[in-house]
Amino acid sequence: SLQGTVAEPKASSVAEPLLLNAVRGEDVERPPVWLMRQAGRYMKSYQIICEKHPSFRERSENVDLVVEISLQPWKVFRPDGVILFSDILTPLSGMNIPFDIVKGKGPVIFNPLHTADDVDQVREFVPEESVPYVGEALTVLRKEVENKAAVLGFVGAPFTLASYVVEGGSSKHFTKIKRLAFSQPKVLHALLQKFATSMAKYIQYQADSGAQTVQIFDSWATELSPVDFEEFSLPYLKQIVDTVKQSHPNLPLILYASGSGGLLERLALTGVDVVSLDWSVDMAEGRKRLGPDVAVQGNVDPGVLFGSKEFITNRINDVVKKAGKGKHILNLGHGIVVGTPEENVAHFFEVAKGIRY
Ligand code: CP3
Repeated sequence: SLQGTVAEPKASSVAEPLLLNAVRGEDVERPPVWLMRQAGRYMKSYQIICEKHPSFRERSENVDLVVEISLQPWKVFRPDGVILFSDILTPLSGMNIPFDIVKGKGPVIFNPLHTADDVDQVREFVPEESVPYVGEALTVLRKEVENKAAVLGFVGAPFTLASYVVEGGSSKHFTKIKRLAFSQPKVLHALLQKFATSMAKYIQYQADSGAQTVQIFDSWATELSPVDFEEFSLPYLKQIVDTVKQSHPNLPLILYASGSGGLLERLALTGVDVVSLDWSVDMAEGRKRLGPDVAVQGNVDPGVLFGSKEFITNRINDVVKKAGKGKHILNLGHGIVVGTPEENVAHFFEVAKGIRY
């Protein structure tokens, strides 16, 4: 049977989701599994919603749409984690930073920030006032999912958010934020501090609304060399983790950075419970470098989902074996890619949920 007794407690059961048990190092019979960006464009059902609601902001800021889209992969694949459909940029408008996410182009910040005056105009985030739909959606998701999976919230990390608002959108060489970092560090630090305070509050709000674990995306932190990571990212991540751990000591925090092989040990220094590895790191080596206290997530190359079913099976087994028993959340090494065949995603979940240690 693909449905393990640990993973699928009865609706009336008070058992905790497998994902939380695994993170806490409890005895589990298989690794829990979910996929980064599991809600979205590779699904036909999502594309149908996009035709009716072409604005990303609408899709991600309307409670009914957020809930419907978040539940699309849940209904088809039954992952062990259900992530809120939203974006790391969603808090920006509430911080007085107008933005949009434009089809074919990605994020657009209308007035990129460059000066101390620009940073002064940034408002601290009050989630319950600016994004009440996020809290409402999380509360509905918790009810719908009934503890058969963990409901995941997420936030962007200060450096990654700063990179968008300074660059004006996605970037290749990160020249604008590096110019700011390396010529006017105080201005950047002021911005990073505002994001750190705001994102700590946002995590607390998500947890109070129903999120059972929260992932912090510092996707572009690895554009920084280790010394610069230690100045412009690590202290703010630590601050967020410390603040949240004081109010929510049992809320597991996951940290992801893309291409993080050079920074792994430093990511663990933030105090998060789970470090999410991308596929540039061998899982066995990553596990060894991080030590036994930290749980790991990952790290199958999203491109593997374009391979044959047999190939996908082999790569899942390889990662699970290398991660060892417990304290592992099976996932991809980054978000699922547009064009991924849905039947291969179904195969991925089927194999993953059939694993027994
Ligand atoms: O995982 C999930 O299913 C939840 C949804 C989610 C989205 N964005 C929806 C989305 C999550 C967790 C994110 C996080 C996010 N957003 C990150 C961190 C994760 C990572 O990939 O490193 C980043 C850097 C962003 C910023 C962002 N949003 C970019 C760069 C883009 C454009 C991507 C592209 O290729 O067009 C977005 C838009 C976005 N966010 C889409 C989705 C499904 C695609 C646009 C759409 O569906 O209309």
